[in-house]
Amino acid sequence: MAEQKKLLRSLAGEVQDVPPIWMMRQAGRYLPEYRATREKAGDFLSLCYNPELAAEVTLQPIRRYGFDAAILFADILLVPQALGADLWFVTGEGPRLSTLTDQAGFDALKPASDVHEVLSPVYETVSILSRELPGDVTLIGFAGAPWTVATYMIAGRGTKDQGPAHALKDENRPLFEALLGRITEATIEYLSRQIEAGAEVVKIFDSWAGSLKGEDFTRYAVEPARVITAALKERHPGIPVIGFPREAGEGYVGFARATGVDCVALDNSVAPDWAAQHVQVDGCVQGNLASSHMVTGGQALVDETRAIVKAFSGGPHIFNLGHGITPDADPANVQLMIDTVREG
Ligand code: CP3
Repeated sequence: MAEQKKLLRSLAGEVQDVPPIWMMRQAGRYLPEYRATREKAGDFLSLCYNPELAAEVTLQPIRRYGFDAAILFADILLVPQALGADLWFVTGEGPRLSTLTDQAGFDALKPASDVHEVLSPVYETVSILSRELPGDVTLIGFAGAPWTVATYMIAGRGTKDQGPAHALKDENRPLFEALLGRITEATIEYLSRQIEAGAEVVKIFDSWAGSLKGEDFTRYAVEPARVITAALKERHPGIPVIGFPREAGEGYVGFARATGVDCVALDNSVAPDWAAQHVQVDGCVQGNLASSHMVTGGQALVDETRAIVKAFSGGPHIFNLGHGITPDADPANVQLMIDTVREG
């Protein structure tokens, strides 16, 4: 049998001298080849639903940099669209959706088993990628976590403090919980099909987990991640899962144990030495260089990259940024980060 892929080895708990590396939003607007393909596709959603072109942009950063993993090109907001929400992107502003604020809005949603009709092009992208990726590169599928997806469905857009979602939770908890339940079911269906099409790892992005405090964090960040992880592992024994409860702070501690995820992705608000001591004790961690270094570069990038590699060198680690790379990043700084990780 061929030696296991580098990323999968860290996920299995192996401590490696050089950690595997990939980058959130590695296929994105900072790359001229992405911008060219995006232009050809038309708008962002047309690119997401075009399997040939979505596979092409997924492969671009692999060709340019030789990352250890490729992440499927899609978006977390395709699930609400598949459940029946209207979705569009306003250039320079971000996503817009029809809002869901009452029982009638919930009753209009499709059942979770119906999402495949809209999402089937994504499964096609995954199968193209599983054929075309180099043999040592791991294919990562993904979905948004129920809370984060719900914040967009309720507000109809991105919000700074997730105010509308917190308001619905406080004013009509049964409706709020029914919505999280529907998204949870749809996410299990969606990720399961990605795995059947060839995804070797799945990641659950809970970008707004940080605004859930105390009991709410346990109920609406930990519990959905646990339910999704358990269902996927039951259907697909051995499938590794990465959880990303972004800005969870103290909530990162024990998250892997409580949810069953194989790896916890860390944002850059937590100190690597602290996270090594309190989070990596339970298994693999991923992260957590500030994405601003991809804009500024230089010696600070090199020093910080080395410090992160060193802090996490005692346990399983996947090198990554703390959040997605931004459009104003310099592609040369990405190469500098990779060279620093691989050459020490
Ligand atoms: O990481 C990758 O390379 C894979 C593809 C990917 C995208 N979005 C492509 C994308 C992934 C994993 C996502 C996840 C996603 N999408 C999240 C969770 C992670 C995070 O960033 O917190 C969220 C919250 C979204 C929703 C979303 N999509 C927003 C808020 C925006 C607009 C903000 C922005 O950066 O413009 C998007 C658009 C989006 N998703 C782009 C890309 C490459 C830019 C669209 C473009 O090409 O114009």
